[in-house]
Amino acid sequence: MKSTSLFAALGLMGAILFLGSMKAQIQKGKTRPLETKTWMRCVNGPQCTSLGKLLQAGLTDDKSWQEARANAEMLAESGHVLMADGRCPDATWADATKELREGSEAVLKALDAKDAAGAQKEFQRVAASCKACHTAHKK
Ligand code: HEC
Repeated sequence: MKSTSLFAALGLMGAILFLGSMKAQIQKGKTRPLETKTWMRCVNGPQCTSLGKLLQAGLTDDKSWQEARANAEMLAESGHVLMADGRCPDATWADATKELREGSEAVLKALDAKDAAGAQKEFQRVAASCKACHTAHKK
């Protein structure tokens, strides 16, 4: 084998290993047992669905304002968790988690001002952040 093709073969192997570890990284962090899929199923999915439904229904009583607030707090925290334990593979992931965090914080701010329409509007940022990361990283 000529040395150029040997280098090409080594480069290809390196790229495959690199992509393989990047995939593992998005499925689970580096040291802790939490799988991304589990976090999504138990936190992001239900919290986002609940918040969307409450906002859609128009936050009819005190309990629904409180519940919406709890949902937005959890989603804001999720923006931190998804960056922890070496899980973030690239700038798309980092930008989406930042938008998840900041969008959720903007929802909280609107809820605290008893601004249901504002909360509804900021919630679109949260939903867009899910989509941005999923388009790039959810197989
Ligand atoms: C920074 C990236 C990122 C963001 C932001 C993100 N997700 Fe995910 N999500 C993923 C990845 C990666 C998977 C696939 C995990 C796997 O199958 O290993 C996933 C999978 C899911 C799943 C499927 C879980 C299952 O049981 O297979 C749901 C539901 C989900 N996400 C909901 C959401 C919602 C709702 C939001 C926004 C509030 C969101 N995600 C934001 C990365 C993200």
